[in-house]
Amino acid sequence: MSGTPLDYIGHAAGSRAGAILPLTWFTLVVSIVVIVIIAALVLRASLRFRARGGASETVGVPVERGADGLRWITIGLALTAVPLLVTLVWTMAALAQVAGPPLANPGLVLDVTPHQWWWEVQYNGATPDAIFETANEIHIPTGTKVLVRLHGGDVIHSFWVPRLSGKTDAIPGQNNLSWLDADQPGVYRGQCAEYCGWQHAKMAFEVVAEPPAQFAAWRDHQLADAPQPTTPRIAQGQAIIVYRCGLCHAVRGTDAGARTAPDLTHLMSRRMIAAGVLPNTPGALLGWVQHPQGVKPDSLMPDQHLSGAELTAVGAYLETLR
Ligand code: CUA
Repeated sequence: MSGTPLDYIGHAAGSRAGAILPLTWFTLVVSIVVIVIIAALVLRASLRFRARGGASETVGVPVERGADGLRWITIGLALTAVPLLVTLVWTMAALAQVAGPPLANPGLVLDVTPHQWWWEVQYNGATPDAIFETANEIHIPTGTKVLVRLHGGDVIHSFWVPRLSGKTDAIPGQNNLSWLDADQPGVYRGQCAEYCGWQHAKMAFEVVAEPPAQFAAWRDHQLADAPQPTTPRIAQGQAIIVYRCGLCHAVRGTDAGARTAPDLTHLMSRRMIAAGVLPNTPGALLGWVQHPQGVKPDSLMPDQHLSGAELTAVGAYLETLR
């Protein structure tokens, strides 16, 4: 991520967003021009009316139709029809462009399940040992069409990566398909785009687009189990995580195997925590572990009330989950 905010909103980095963005700018500019013209006409009419003495409480406003009254309606209709027609045709063309090309033969297939308020991401493989899960951070190889199978979770959410792809809703009881690609390496912010409860705004994720070789290395690393503790303090931290966190979270290679919260096996490989809310720094991480309700009130993760020594041990263990 670099450059000015204008760069950020102004440039598409994927073929889907590339089809949508010029249309967005076009309709925005047309809308602004229409508002300006209408405002100018209203202003002109009211100033003229006032110049002629205006209305009083006892004298009604006479309805006049000058000889050229209908001409304005004709001009107005013609002016409206042209941009509407252009918008209609352009929208149809953009829709055709963003619809199904890679659905038949995608380069990568992801299963994404949104939850209040985080994103579960499953990478698939030909064999079970090639499947793994991560959360809130999606890695993709550049120049590859990625099919995203969206599974309905608890309530309606919407998957949106503005610079790469348009919005697709994830609806409970339904599977929707979306796709995206990135033409250059980078980190692209995604955001839930459907109001889904109190912490809807804090339901972000990141798409990390990497050259294919780098992506393959990342994928191989994600497949590995978490390392075993090498010191007593790390072992204590692992015991606390398994005992207290393992009912919701998974750490592959330990007894923590629940799937109702983000998989923590390679937690430290992620840039952000808490669904794009906090940077993944030691301080933010332990603050989040201890008091998540202060950061995301009403989220399902409870405050932990660990002692200082316990929190230090947890920090030492989490640090090894690279
Ligand atoms: Cu999920 Cu808004």
